[in-house]
Amino acid sequence: MEFSIKSGSPAKAKTGCVVVGVFEGRKLTPAAAELDKASGGFLTEILKRGDHDGHKGSTLLLQAVRKVAAERVLLVGLGKSSEFAAGPYRAAVTAAVKVLKATGTVEASLYLTDLPVKGKDLAWKAEQAALAAAETVYRFDRTKTKHSRKTHLKKIVLHAEGVADVEAATKAIARASAIAAGVSMARDLGNLPANLCTPSILANEAEAMAKAHGLRCQVLGEKEIAKLGMGCFLAVAQGSREPPRFIILEHDGGKKGEAPVVLVGKGVTFDTGGISLKPSAEMDEMKFDMCGAASVIGAMKAVALMKLPVNVVALVPATENMPGGKAVKPGDVVTTMSGQTVEILNTDAEGRLILCDALTYAERYKPAAVIDVATLTGAMVISLGHIATGLFANDDDLARELVAAGDAAWDRAWHLPLWEEYQDALKSHFADIPNIGPRAGGAITAACFLSRFTKAYKWAHLDIAGTAWKSGAEKGATGRPVAQLAHFLARRAA
Ligand code: BES
Ligand code: MN
Ligand code: ZN
Repeated sequence: MEFSIKSGSPAKAKTGCVVVGVFEGRKLTPAAAELDKASGGFLTEILKRGDHDGHKGSTLLLQAVRKVAAERVLLVGLGKSSEFAAGPYRAAVTAAVKVLKATGTVEASLYLTDLPVKGKDLAWKAEQAALAAAETVYRFDRTKTKHSRKTHLKKIVLHAEGVADVEAATKAIARASAIAAGVSMARDLGNLPANLCTPSILANEAEAMAKAHGLRCQVLGEKEIAKLGMGCFLAVAQGSREPPRFIILEHDGGKKGEAPVVLVGKGVTFDTGGISLKPSAEMDEMKFDMCGAASVIGAMKAVALMKLPVNVVALVPATENMPGGKAVKPGDVVTTMSGQTVEILNTDAEGRLILCDALTYAERYKPAAVIDVATLTGAMVISLGHIATGLFANDDDLARELVAAGDAAWDRAWHLPLWEEYQDALKSHFADIPNIGPRAGGAITAACFLSRFTKAYKWAHLDIAGTAWKSGAEKGATGRPVAQLAHFLARRAA
């Protein structure tokens, strides 16, 4: 999909479809009013008949409107004009693109970018329109023989009047294209079933992406992982017939020797729970347990496409969590790469076991910051639902930076506490630490566990258990938090 930014009259735009907004109470936006005037009051007529009322998310497609150059006119309801902020703006773009996708429209002109959105400039509106459009046209049908209907939509022109910050908006569109490519890759990897996305396949995909975009890539196998002393990572992997992989991606965009940002992604390609087996209902969704890995690989793709002048590393411990004959058992004590011993009381708390060794490995980069991304706890879903990613950090400035990046990218995270008092939940009879605590505050306990391995650097942890994928009718990976990470890194680069 191609995006550009242009000025000009909506009535004269020679395009497949002009999209204009209508506020609740049948209030026409300036572009809609222009079409109305050109067509001799046709839009007013339609609104009077009651066919459209500007309700949030409502749409009405009109064909061959008189005196309008475009083949179609799409009215999009914007809701109350007094409440038109970031959320409703994104929802309007999404609603419009959903309709465009179902028509034969190849090229469309969006007269929404020029509407005032509380606290947002043209660059933000252009970037979000591009991201929302890309998100809406995304399809995954690699595993179907009968493909769903092809989208004809190829090009979207975003409208802006006046030349003020068109340059910034053009840059924002370029950034959005890079981010959208990263998001799309993360979604593809997430949506692949576990039999087609084993640790080895995930490593191959990362390698191919690195080759195509000029990143360095190294993949470690079981022997090398053992040599590094990653006892916890191996303990999870030993229950599976699929060998584990440790994936390393490096982008050297910054100065030589400059401390990199290290991203770490949980790559459990399928989580059965191991010997602490999960119940079977919805277990298929545990193919999404590598979405943290997918998001850091996708973010690296976006970083490479943006050619960001920063050094960034991505680390992915990839394994299945299976209850094989050699599987790790509740009560087993294993030694981590850090030297600390862990009593594995529940084999289903495996994410933290593979992450802790990757976090220790990250020390060798003397990083400026480390951010891990993981579908870590069911408790996170209970805490924040599916809107906000859970954010924990051992450094408040880093936490604020990530929250701000999430807000700017509309891929939001919420900062949760990691106070000393919570650490008391982690007491083991037989090892330095257990891998689980009591049920209460489960997402925080998991973060506390990770914090035992991140003392050497500034660190943040993103628990994406509630935001990495959708269930139900729209089941599938979301690609979050690629946009948040990309914004964070772009801000660091600036
Ligand atoms: N991958 C799961 C977390 C998860 C569960 C994400 C449901 C999204 C939806 C993780 O490995 C896990 O099983 N966590 C356990 C930890 C518990 C045993 C302390 C959980 O949250 O139940
Ligand atoms: Mn688990
Ligand atoms: Zn898991």
